[in-house]
Amino acid sequence: MGNVIDLGEYGARFTEDPYPVYAELRERGPVHWVRTPPPEAFEGWLVVGHEEARAALADPRLSKDGTKKGLTSLDVELMGPYLLVVDPPEHTRLRSLVARAFTMRRVEALRPRIQEITDGLLDEMLPRGRADLVDSFAYPLPITVICELLGVPDIDRVTFRALSNEIVAPTGGDAELAAYERLAAYLDELIDDKRSTAPADDLLGDLIRTRAEDDDRLSGEELRAMAFILLVAGHETTVNLITNGVHTLLTHPDQLAALRADMTLLDGAVEEVLRFEGPVETATYRYAAESMEIGGTAIAEGDPVMIGLDAAGRDPARHPDPHVFDIHRAPQGHLAFGHGIHYCLGAPLARLEARVALRSLLERCPDLALDGPPGARPPGMLIRGVRRLPVRW
Ligand code: HEM
Repeated sequence: MGNVIDLGEYGARFTEDPYPVYAELRERGPVHWVRTPPPEAFEGWLVVGHEEARAALADPRLSKDGTKKGLTSLDVELMGPYLLVVDPPEHTRLRSLVARAFTMRRVEALRPRIQEITDGLLDEMLPRGRADLVDSFAYPLPITVICELLGVPDIDRVTFRALSNEIVAPTGGDAELAAYERLAAYLDELIDDKRSTAPADDLLGDLIRTRAEDDDRLSGEELRAMAFILLVAGHETTVNLITNGVHTLLTHPDQLAALRADMTLLDGAVEEVLRFEGPVETATYRYAAESMEIGGTAIAEGDPVMIGLDAAGRDPARHPDPHVFDIHRAPQGHLAFGHGIHYCLGAPLARLEARVALRSLLERCPDLALDGPPGARPPGMLIRGVRRLPVRW
């Protein structure tokens, strides 16, 4: 396997700022065998070059289904098979059931409601003069939107946030297992409840009807797994796109001033945040279904492969001066939403939420500023963000 690069050896520095490490690795080659930082300490290939990452994301020889290689995974065992852990033809079938709900047109129709939720959160927050932006704004917006879309009523948001955080950034020990178990039980109960009344006119209601009408199209387990991935993927990431956007703008005052002076730059600014500080640092695991090569490196059958999306965003071969945050650059083809058949289903929704959130926040807080150091970064290499962002205005 050659040398293991133990990313844990870089300590907290790596979690705080992984980009120098990615740059150093990239200079040596696009693909490396690494051990991820504890508590996960998982070994596998890490792709850090843009071209290689893009090709790998769309390579059908890289399977999402570890069970084919005899690997067990906590989430599949406890939740059931969901979009990010299945290959075609299962993937094609599952994705086609939800794709309609997330088209650009369907999502655009949500704009007035997204604006209304955003305005309500700002109405509550603004009189206070200071706040944790995550708690007051970046978290409640996407969780409210995805819960309304799915038809998840009155979710206990404090509990849900803790469970969801644990799942995307495990702290080790039994906490992750417990989080999966509690979330699975919650979703089962919710689906049973919805099934016992006439399923409502929302996405979960649609999926329940699909199942009732054509029983072999969506098993009970698949239904729960779909609710799980939509809820978790539908907010963890968007919270951090909004938070990273505000954080990056506040720490690059020239860029913030340029944006305030010309709000037509907003869409490009959101894309630049996705490239510069994308919320998904590393794509979810893939496994080589056969022996293959990536960027000239031999990958053995069964090897796990991680694809560095934020690493790719800083590849100078694709993005000149990659460590410069420049809202004018129009970073075409960044990989923050992935690529290929698993390309983010929620990309149009995430973009819309981030644009509405940033525009409204900046317009209503002309003097927005940081109010002390940001909170801790989530552990692990999946999610890039901060858990708290104190701001004042
Ligand atoms: C800024 C926000 C978001 C980012 C950066 C993001 C990023 C990603 C990425 C990188 C993938 C592919 C992962 C891989 O190939 O390993 C993905 C897949 C996915 N995302 Fe998002 N996402 C965001 C928001 C959302 C939202 C709002 C939803 C809600 C519906 C969503 C639902 C999904 C689903 C269901 C998949 C799996 C698609 C499949 O396997 O076919 N995401 N996302």
